[in-house]
Amino acid sequence: MNFEDFPAENAHRILAPRPTVIITTVNSNGDINAAPFSFVMPVSMDPPIIAFASAPKHDTNLNINETREFVVNLTPDSILQKMWITGEKLPYGENELEKAGLTAIPSKIVSPPRIVESMAHLECEVLRVNTVGDHNLITAYVVHASVQENCIKNGLLDVEKVKPILHLGGTSFIVGDNLKKVE
Ligand SMILES: Cc1cc2nc3c(=O)[nH]c(=O)nc-3n(C[C@H](O)[C@H](O)[C@H](O)COP(=O)(O)O)c2cc1C
Repeated sequence: MNFEDFPAENAHRILAPRPTVIITTVNSNGDINAAPFSFVMPVSMDPPIIAFASAPKHDTNLNINETREFVVNLTPDSILQKMWITGEKLPYGENELEKAGLTAIPSKIVSPPRIVESMAHLECEVLRVNTVGDHNLITAYVVHASVQENCIKNGLLDVEKVKPILHLGGTSFIVGDNLKKVE
């Protein structure tokens, strides 16, 4: 068996494909921001805590420093192209949801909105922000979760219905709807 060396700085390309979400935030004026993220993970179940990593310069990170809240919006295959548009760098304070043609609805607890087309949302309040290498690791309590009707099957996400998008790298994505079960 032969193994080739692979650049360690591309470790994230080995830890792939990763669930891709759109994170919505607001600044202290209430201006909405949205951007895709895939460095995202659950950390604790009780209490429910998740974490994601953001480059410090991102508007998402600036808004979180100001208002300490965000919403994780799942990305189904049906909004792949729109998710990509939210990744465009718009001037600070401009709303990527409007540019992408996505629909904002109020969250139940936090100020940033949920995205209607996302099918599932985690409303989060920030616990702490740590600088880790060239990213900030943002750890947050999940204070409310919502899922579109009929998108949960036997307690799990109905992936055949939702078709969640997984990021492989660059412009390449996998549709995560190929359900397999161990015997
Ligand atoms: C699929 C995808 C996943 C991404 N994941 C991350 C990530 O996990 N962390 C990060 O800092 N940037 C990530 N980015 C880059 C940001 O989304 C992008 O730079 C965006 O413009 C930041 O927007 P903002 O300045 O409005 O926050 C990702 C981009 C794409 C398209």
